[in-house]
Amino acid sequence: MTRSRIIGTGMYVPPFVVTNDDLSRRIDTSDEWITERSGIRERRWLETNAEGWTLQTGAEMGAQAAREALAAAGIEPEAVDLVLYATLNPDLFFPGNGVFVEDLLGLQTAGAMDIRNQCTGFVYALAAADGFIQAGIAETVLVIGGEIQSTALDVSDQGRDMAVLFGDGAGAVIVQKSDSESGILASALHSQGRYARDLYCEAPVGNRSDRITPEMLQQKRHYPRMDGKLVFKHATRRFCEAINEVLAQGGMATGDIDLLVPHQANQRITDAVGARMGLSPERVFSNIAKYGNTTAATIPIALAEAEREGRLRDGDIVVTVAFGSGFTWGANLIRW
Ligand code: UT7
Repeated sequence: MTRSRIIGTGMYVPPFVVTNDDLSRRIDTSDEWITERSGIRERRWLETNAEGWTLQTGAEMGAQAAREALAAAGIEPEAVDLVLYATLNPDLFFPGNGVFVEDLLGLQTAGAMDIRNQCTGFVYALAAADGFIQAGIAETVLVIGGEIQSTALDVSDQGRDMAVLFGDGAGAVIVQKSDSESGILASALHSQGRYARDLYCEAPVGNRSDRITPEMLQQKRHYPRMDGKLVFKHATRRFCEAINEVLAQGGMATGDIDLLVPHQANQRITDAVGARMGLSPERVFSNIAKYGNTTAATIPIALAEAEREGRLRDGDIVVTVAFGSGFTWGANLIRW
């Protein structure tokens, strides 16, 4: 039987650390509020030059994570025949970041595609990689989740609900066709567009002749907005549903999970999901305290760190699960 196996993981986060105290010097917030409400203590933000350009692009962060994943997998970049790049913040309006990574890695003519599914992007991308491999379209897929969130935030009192939550970074995995028992066993993908405007960024817009107006900029409609409480409520419920769905597809139960790797949105969401699923804290991965919510990058960064920490051993049953803007949500069941 053909399986799509993760054979290498990698990550990259920018070196510049922004603590909760750093933020509380810029906006009306506090370390106590942020830690208590979200579990976040610090995040990494790309530094910018005098003209406001970030010192690295999103694609450069993705390529760094990819190089680490390729080295861990012990394969040369040329072996990759498809790049899937999950991000809600591509460097340009188009083309997506996948083609820039393809070029940065010197891949010549490998396929490249961006998946714009926000916090759920990496879960969708893993399922897509599995689908392409099962269909015989690709054999070695580089899957990246990466975000520059720092330039997309309203770092003012008005935007404080979101500004304190997000960070920059990228993670990558190599998914390869395999005859072994290990690999992606099941995936569940869902969305509910009726909630699209409960967590979204409006501008620039495609359906306006000028795409963005001075008024829209003045009204800060190019910054994301969310109904935090509504997102929280739906996320907790959908995480559990998606985990149960992939377990059922794989003929497994919660007791089979060795490690749950949830999207890192809020430590309170992670704790609530762990408790509802009856998983002890050692079986639920968390690194939100260090990086905040890096959106499509949280799960691949978590996988890379979990592997480094020796928490992913051959044969382990791992579940990745995410929820985010769209609303979108989903999960993957993986035998490591
Ligand atoms: O990956 C998916 C993306 N997003 C999420 O998953 C986010 C899900 N939601 C959440 O994580 C939480 O709803 C938040 C962390 C965003 C907020 O926590 P909360 O417990 O739901 O707080 P709240 O929105 O009810 O706000 C409570 C108070 C408000 O003040 P009043 O109206 O009670 O006077 C806010 O204005 O906290 C205030 N507040 C802040 N105070 C200090 C909001 N943001 C901040 C802040 N610092 N940064």
